[in-house]
Amino acid sequence: MRGRNPVVKCLNTIETILRRSEKPVIVVVFPPGEKDEPKSLSELMADRQEQAEKSVLISCPSRTNEKKFLKFLSKHGDINKHFFYESYGVYAVVEFARRDSVASLLESAAIPSVNHECMVPFKSRLLSLSNQSLAASTDRILPALMSLQVDDQIGALTETYQLTEENSRLRFLVCSLLKDVAAAYFPECTIRPFGSSVNGFGKLGCDLDMFLDLDSISGWNFKPPKSGLSLEYQMKRTNSERHVTQSILSVIGECVDHFWPGCVGVQKILNARCPLVRFAHQPSGFQCDLTANNRVAMKSTELLYLYGELDPRVRSLVFTVRCWARAHGVTSSIPGAWITNFSLTVMVLFFLQKRSPPIIPTLDRLRDLAGPADESVIEGNDCTFATDFSKIQLQSNTDTLEQLLGDFFEFYAMFPFSRMSINIRKGREQNKPEMAPLHIQNPFETSLNVSKNVNTSQLDRFVALCQESAWLLQQSETRTQRGSSGNRTTTPWGLATLLLPSKVVGIKGRKKYKKEGASERIKSLLETLKNKNEEPKS
Ligand code: GTP
Ligand code: MG
Repeated sequence: MRGRNPVVKCLNTIETILRRSEKPVIVVVFPPGEKDEPKSLSELMADRQEQAEKSVLISCPSRTNEKKFLKFLSKHGDINKHFFYESYGVYAVVEFARRDSVASLLESAAIPSVNHECMVPFKSRLLSLSNQSLAASTDRILPALMSLQVDDQIGALTETYQLTEENSRLRFLVCSLLKDVAAAYFPECTIRPFGSSVNGFGKLGCDLDMFLDLDSISGWNFKPPKSGLSLEYQMKRTNSERHVTQSILSVIGECVDHFWPGCVGVQKILNARCPLVRFAHQPSGFQCDLTANNRVAMKSTELLYLYGELDPRVRSLVFTVRCWARAHGVTSSIPGAWITNFSLTVMVLFFLQKRSPPIIPTLDRLRDLAGPADESVIEGNDCTFATDFSKIQLQSNTDTLEQLLGDFFEFYAMFPFSRMSINIRKGREQNKPEMAPLHIQNPFETSLNVSKNVNTSQLDRFVALCQESAWLLQQSETRTQRGSSGNRTTTPWGLATLLLPSKVVGIKGRKKYKKEGASERIKSLLETLKNKNEEPKS
């Protein structure tokens, strides 16, 4: 099953809409464009960056009149898209059709007058509107998981908690706003989002990982003439690239802390393996991590995105496992000995490579399919893999998501973690090269273990929860076969049972199973999933 067939995908979507809707609906189907392959991540990111650079972020009074607001702004030019959201007040993202409209709008904005305070005279595209009216509620309806089949439950979970179009635009806009700060020193820099903000596996509330890209300045592709006169910049030299990265991040961190409006809690974590500046951006509500010189992470993001787009089951399964792990505290928002979302995702990919026939190809296979434009060596590591979807032929595998989820839990309930390492480059387990409790080979920096932070007790919890979840799914299946599923609208069922606090595994520190109604627990659990700021950093 290729799964990306646009007709099948379209029919499935229509079927889901019709099945879920309580009111009559009209479905309008537009004919597909010429190109039905997914966009490559770089195409997608270029489009998003373009949108972000034509956008402004405006803090609005809570009862802003939308019509008046748009009329007021459209004096500066046509508006492509706008939306409101709430985070410490109501904000509007407004994308103009042209960049000069942004310049015109900024030109017309006044400097606030203050009596007893001082102001940092730094202008940005974060503005405040004075006047009144309209707030848009971003409340989303919780899916009635219990009344659905497991495959649909998984679909509903993904649809409810995945990043929305608006949230995704806002992430690019924050990068673009931060670029304006960094551009004071590095006018040609770009700030790119990476990680779950763009790899397709992000959940509402996940952090915003950003990468300060200075490649256009560093002259990667510059070839000096063989003879004749030429000029070069004089540049300060230091003893290591790491030191350069630390200095740049330190200075940008200072600017963010002192000049950037709406930014709080700036921490410089410069001695980490991958130095970073962490802060909260209040207008967007995002917890942000800014790194520099982190091109391998950008490649891992691209790889994860590619796998997610190859077959829709990949994204759904990764998403569900991530939600499951968060619900059971397998992952956490506090850094520590927990399994990270990145490690968890690699585990799902590995499992999908091990299916018979495999659902996704190995990384070595993707490297073999790569064309010259895909070649990439970063700090001596081969990061080459095919990015052209049309070159990647998938095998015909018809496993349902329900089967895959159950088998995922069984697979890791039985996996020989003590001896074997998980390797998505080869698509098969390898003898462990070192004695970490969990060994997952870093796909690009192959001598590294992406899960070296995980301790034995966390791995044991993961395995015990996999056993429990495999068992719970089997129970649901048996009940359906016997036709005794009871009232599925009130009884926890299928995926819903997996998101409840664990009963079978007696794990220290876990919350006790409360006596409130099961559906209430699921509802509050889903709310927690929705609201919580995710997950740990590795
Ligand atoms: P969230 O938990 O939703 O933030 O998931 P995430 O995928 O964004 O993870 P995280 O913020 O921890 O890391 C951001 C990105 O950095 C990941 O998607 C990977 O591309 C990369 N990354 C994280 N941890 C590692 C690691 O241990 N090794 C390597 N090579 N890359 C990593
Ligand atoms: Mg992240």
